[in-house]
Amino acid sequence: MDVLDIIRHRYAAKEFNSEKVDDNQINYILESIRLAPSSYNLQPWSIIVVSDQKIKEQLYEYSYRQRQIITASDIFVFLTDLNIDRILNELKAARLDYGDNPNRVDQYISKLRAELSTKSREQLRSYLEHQTYIALGFAMLAAESLGIASCPMGGFEERGYRAVLGIEEDYAITVLLAIGYVTDRRDKKIRKQRVLLRRV
Ligand SMILES: Cc1cc2nc3c(=O)[nH]c(=O)nc-3n(C[C@H](O)[C@H](O)[C@H](O)COP(=O)(O)O)c2cc1C
Repeated sequence: MDVLDIIRHRYAAKEFNSEKVDDNQINYILESIRLAPSSYNLQPWSIIVVSDQKIKEQLYEYSYRQRQIITASDIFVFLTDLNIDRILNELKAARLDYGDNPNRVDQYISKLRAELSTKSREQLRSYLEHQTYIALGFAMLAAESLGIASCPMGGFEERGYRAVLGIEEDYAITVLLAIGYVTDRRDKKIRKQRVLLRRV
């Protein structure tokens, strides 16, 4: 399918049927997240995939009882790493794995550390979470390309999710993506007509 067709076809599903998404497809979506771009290639996201129905039922109580949570095959919980040392160590390891020159990698990492240290805690969190939303976008399109419906979800209580899933404080819980199959597809897409402000 053409990318624009995939975009036209996807919508935020409100209820899923009981069909399960298989592991290969879960891995395909995870791969789209792994390959997503980010500022300075920081890749601050990590994902918890919730497939267990009992855990979904607990999360439902912290998700304003939105039915996507209990009817979805799986919930992707997008975490954002707020620990700069860990982010930079992982980035360094990835670059060394690719055979980059160790001195150049060290220089690059030091430059990044200096750059990031100019931000306040709030600015840093916001900046890093922006990156995670890009990965969310990639995941939605990857799912749709497989014929899997999804719903991005910001409507949840972070504290409850942290307790149920045992998530450490140095990860922000940024957003969710419920995935699964739907019986009917909604075709209506309500959008503004105009996006281009000007071309100069
Ligand atoms: C970051 C984000 C958070 C969202 N949170 C919720 C949510 O908690 N519950 C919900 O039903 N839809 C949620 N949505 C879906 C939007 O309401 C939906 O994408 C928008 O109305 C456009 O409709 P469409 O995606 O069906 O084209 C969210 C979407 C995004 C991008």
